[in-house]
Amino acid sequence: MLNICLIGVGRAGMIHARNFTSHVNGAKLLAICDPSDDNLAAAKQELNVKYVYKDYREALDNKEIDAVVIVTPTIFHKDIAIAAANAKKHILCEKPLAMNVQECDEIIEAANINNIKLQVGFMRRFDESFQEAKNRVDDGEIGEVVMVKSLTHGPSHPKPWMFDIKKSNGPIGEVNSHDLDTVRWFLESEVVSMYAIGGNYRSPEVKDKYPDYYDTVSMNLSFANGKIAAIAGAQYVQYGYDARVEILGTHGNIMIGQQHKQALIVAGKHGKIERPAMNSWTYLFRQAYVNEAQSFVNCVVNNLPILVTGYDGKKAVELVNMGVKSYLSKQIVYLK
Ligand SMILES: NC(=O)c1ccc[n+]([C@@H]2O[C@H](COP(=O)([O-])OP(=O)(O)OC[C@H]3O[C@@H](n4cnc5c(N)ncnc54)[C@H](O)[C@@H]3O)[C@@H](O)[C@H]2O)c1
Repeated sequence: MLNICLIGVGRAGMIHARNFTSHVNGAKLLAICDPSDDNLAAAKQELNVKYVYKDYREALDNKEIDAVVIVTPTIFHKDIAIAAANAKKHILCEKPLAMNVQECDEIIEAANINNIKLQVGFMRRFDESFQEAKNRVDDGEIGEVVMVKSLTHGPSHPKPWMFDIKKSNGPIGEVNSHDLDTVRWFLESEVVSMYAIGGNYRSPEVKDKYPDYYDTVSMNLSFANGKIAAIAGAQYVQYGYDARVEILGTHGNIMIGQQHKQALIVAGKHGKIERPAMNSWTYLFRQAYVNEAQSFVNCVVNNLPILVTGYDGKKAVELVNMGVKSYLSKQIVYLK
């Protein structure tokens, strides 16, 4: 039984908490940690955990804990991940792995030195549709993949820490790091150039305080193998959660995703046909989070190679940094 400590019991943290409590085999949620009294109290009331901490350093002293799941705001990932690695705890860290490439290198080095497993939370790689698409691409069903288009639009109002893009990298980091990982995964190559444009269209009230904040972005990427990708991202779209991918091959096309929630269509007497919209990532990727956590536990317990590595996390962060640099400078950014 792998004893888990969840560090950060906010929005995404509680998804992991419920999964490790009820849906993941071979693991037990032993402890939770969060400096927020309100979030900690709510989590404590819902979860039946043995230990509750406000400071992650105290949690890391607990020898009963084998692994941590880091779900704090991204800016804290580096310090917590390095401390966890030094305390010999295996790590499942939410995406983005860190704020920049140097921080990622420090985390990866600490994981290697301490010989612990490090997995990054790109749960889409564990989603049934994404995996089926990948298998069919690998089987050559659409020929050679030449272009991947990936979009993610999120409905919710950004958390206050997200407006300062020095602390969040903005939606390129918070929303589109998933898409950046997806296009790398399907194109099996690394990005050589990127151009990003964007703007703040939905939160005019923060324009004075956070002039660099953007809620909508469009990116064009070219890869070392000559192939191309296009990514769109948006926060606070309000109409629902929207994550779709299109993979164009030399003789075929694969599409992942849909905008509606259930296979339900209502045709009313007013001449309208209605379908319920996908409301949340927590619903769309519900099983993917369980699969991701289960894979982490299996790899740790059986000493198997991790499927979404620190390197994958670092490459996505590198692209996040390129995207933000391009958006701010209004220039194409090249990677050697
Ligand atoms: N995989 C996904 O699809 C997905 C979805 C949402 C969020 N995320 C990622 O999860 C992370 C958290 O995002 P969120 O939306 O849950 O944020 P959130 O603000 O809802 O929750 C963050 C929690 O971390 C706590 N926290 C802050 N500092 C801490 C510390 N030093 N130690 C322990 N806890 C601390 C906060 O009090 C809060 O409870 C971010 O990195 C985000 O990018 C990933």
